[in-house]
Amino acid sequence: MKTLVIGTGGREHALARALAHDPGVTEVHAAPGNPGIAAVATLHDVDPMSGPAVAELAVSLGVDLVVVGPEAPLVAGVADAVRDKGIAVFGPSGAAAQLEGSKAFAKAVMEAASVPTAAAVLCSSVSEVASALDRFGPPYVVKDDGLAAGKGVVVTSSREDALAHAAGCDRVVVEEYLDGPEVSLFAITDGTTVYPLQPAQDFKRIFDGDAGPNTGGMGAYTPLPWAPEGLVGEVLRDVLQPTVDEMARRGTPFSGLLYAGLALTSRGTRVIEFNARWGDPETQPLLALLDAPLSPLLMGAATGTLASVPAPVWKDGAAVAVVMASAGYPESASRGDVITGTDAAGSLDRVHVIHAGTALDGADLVTAGGRVLAVVATGGDVQAARASAYDGVAAISFPGAQHRSDIAAHVES
Ligand code: AMP
Ligand code: GLY
Repeated sequence: MKTLVIGTGGREHALARALAHDPGVTEVHAAPGNPGIAAVATLHDVDPMSGPAVAELAVSLGVDLVVVGPEAPLVAGVADAVRDKGIAVFGPSGAAAQLEGSKAFAKAVMEAASVPTAAAVLCSSVSEVASALDRFGPPYVVKDDGLAAGKGVVVTSSREDALAHAAGCDRVVVEEYLDGPEVSLFAITDGTTVYPLQPAQDFKRIFDGDAGPNTGGMGAYTPLPWAPEGLVGEVLRDVLQPTVDEMARRGTPFSGLLYAGLALTSRGTRVIEFNARWGDPETQPLLALLDAPLSPLLMGAATGTLASVPAPVWKDGAAVAVVMASAGYPESASRGDVITGTDAAGSLDRVHVIHAGTALDGADLVTAGGRVLAVVATGGDVQAARASAYDGVAAISFPGAQHRSDIAAHVES
């Protein structure tokens, strides 16, 4: 099978790497890719946001399957443009990607499907925001309605900061605060059959101890030894399957990767958000432990035949990813800082390096984005994997590099 991965990030590198290791895959192409992806795929300089350009590339390469990685092209309908050419695509239509593209749409679907989530009010004026804040009380949760790369949400006990964030958005959702640990539970679906993956957890704040602003994610691990028994079955029954069924009922079936961000609150499991694509960096440790070829699952989801593909199974042990970010992240990103040590890190036992915001400057590997790379390690348990991941991080350096030192630190194996 010939495949084409669309995107430039760590998630796309992890997907391309898994496809490159898949015996059923003969060619892996990527557009536009990054220097890490170039090691496992042939790169093409095509705008990932242009449906016609991506579709034309897929046709000219004669690929069997296109995997659209990031949310922005999905919401823009890039998967539709490829599907219109008769090529199988892993990733939802633009209409179905509204599950991520609009928090208000996601809330409406959850309500219709009786999926447990935080009570919320959609506001379009400052006075509506003010009264919603007073209704729920602190801590305040204020979300930009549109796509914001994980940075559109403010959780604060300051009413003033909550109002200030709302003032910068067109439409905002103000919602009830959810306590309790967060879990990322992904499912592969063809619009009917739903295969949950192993639960993972990511670390959203920039600094140790969950301090500082939200980021796209600074690290992740899987599995979760502390997760309640039966969690996956419960979420499949109460969240994933009802959501997929409701999307089909509306005439906008969802196929691809449905990402449920969950809070395990004292009052039960609640959905924090849906995403319409693989989570980053959770995908990196998940794919490191997937004990099945990836392409049949992606192809089954893309062609409505997932029920005929065996459900995914997982290697024993655990995997941990630690993100290294550039100076200034998440407010800004520093470009052009020379990165050293990735080969040394990648040659450590059970360690590999996944590139996100990297570029080549002559012979030098340099930073080219906020999240620069992730060091991913597997091990017999979470602490063993964590120790190896940090050995990899220690081998890599670039000016201004930031990483959290407490990814998966408090997880008992
Ligand atoms: P989202 O973009 O909706 O995933 O939100 C990003 C992060 O903000 C989440 O992972 C949570 O850490 C936090 N968050 C979002 N909504 C809530 C909520 N209702 N209660 C508490 N924390 C939240
Ligand atoms: N890791 C969070 C996300 O991908 O949105």
